Amino acid sequence: MSEYSPLFQPLVIRGRKLRNRIVCPPMVTNRNIVGKDGIEWYRRIARGGAGLVIVEATRTSRFGRELKVDGLRRLVEAVKGEGAVVAIQLFMSPVDGRDSPDSLTREDISLSVERFRRAAVVCREAGFDGVEPHGAHGFLLNRFFSRRTNHRRDAYGGDLEGRMRLGTEVVRAVRSEVGGDMLVLYRHTPEEPGGYTLDESLEFAGRLVDAGVDILDISPSSRDAPGDLAEPFRSLGVPVIAVGMMSVHERALEALREGRADLVAVGRGLIADPFWPLKTMEGRLDEIARCRYCDEGCFGNLRAGRPIECVQHRC
Ligand SMILES: Cc1cc2nc3c(=O)[nH]c(=O)nc-3n(C[C@H](O)[C@H](O)[C@H](O)COP(=O)(O)O)c2cc1C
Repeated sequence: MSEYSPLFQPLVIRGRKLRNRIVCPPMVTNRNIVGKDGIEWYRRIARGGAGLVIVEATRTSRFGRELKVDGLRRLVEAVKGEGAVVAIQLFMSPVDGRDSPDSLTREDISLSVERFRRAAVVCREAGFDGVEPHGAHGFLLNRFFSRRTNHRRDAYGGDLEGRMRLGTEVVRAVRSEVGGDMLVLYRHTPEEPGGYTLDESLEFAGRLVDAGVDILDISPSSRDAPGDLAEPFRSLGVPVIAVGMMSVHERALEALREGRADLVAVGRGLIADPFWPLKTMEGRLDEIARCRYCDEGCFGNLRAGRPIECVQHRC
């Protein structure tokens, strides 16, 4: 038993076996995910040893249009071929530019749920192991849950019940399409000052689990927040992913050892070195190209619309 063995315990969820507890969280690469460059990016991440790879936030309206089953299947096969389980994050598209809860009509909301459903069908046909509605970070789906950004007076706003409705409907729609053997994840931000409390989030997460969520991906909105905000969600009985500067081994190990999370996501750490998992497993820690959290090539390029890369460790 090595000191790092908590990271390398397999986990089986709905018959899908994750070879370890290390997750590559969704990260927009500014690459074409069904093009050569994008596929090679994800193949490399999987080759580096992550147990679960969550492909970046992808607008629901793109599925079946520019993102077809054949192209996505090539991406899926590249990742699975390296032994990882592969999911994709589904990002709620605005409707004709309308991207706030208050501006969406009831028809827009129905269309949005329908888009999630259709995206899930395409993902299932392409062979993904799982899908993850993006309900975090103040984006459209998350905004429905926040009293700060949702001032609707109909069934999709108002009290907690109303603010939970869209997320729950999305999960139900997705689950009904993917059936019983595919994973449904949900990414959620645990608290938003002025928007919602942790207690409200826990109630919401319980609903999501009842609606069919298998893994709660708990992501703070700040890039420097600690991953242990995931801990309270462990009471809901499904595996929980913690994220936030987990490439520092002690943090990742502590989260697992102390039972604060079931899985740890290493984001920027895998941009710096996709082989972080494998090198850790083999005890080659001194060979890891370490993320310095400078945010230049990752968040900087993301904002500038350039392909992300690590500027400290160009490969
Ligand atoms: C370049 C980049 C793109 C990201 N894109 C997404 C995304 O598509 N969806 C999402 O939920 N989070 C996204 N994130 C946030 C990461 O998934 C992760 O939560 C964050 O980087 C914190 O983890 P870390 O400290 O291990 O990097 C992105 C982060 C980076 C650096």
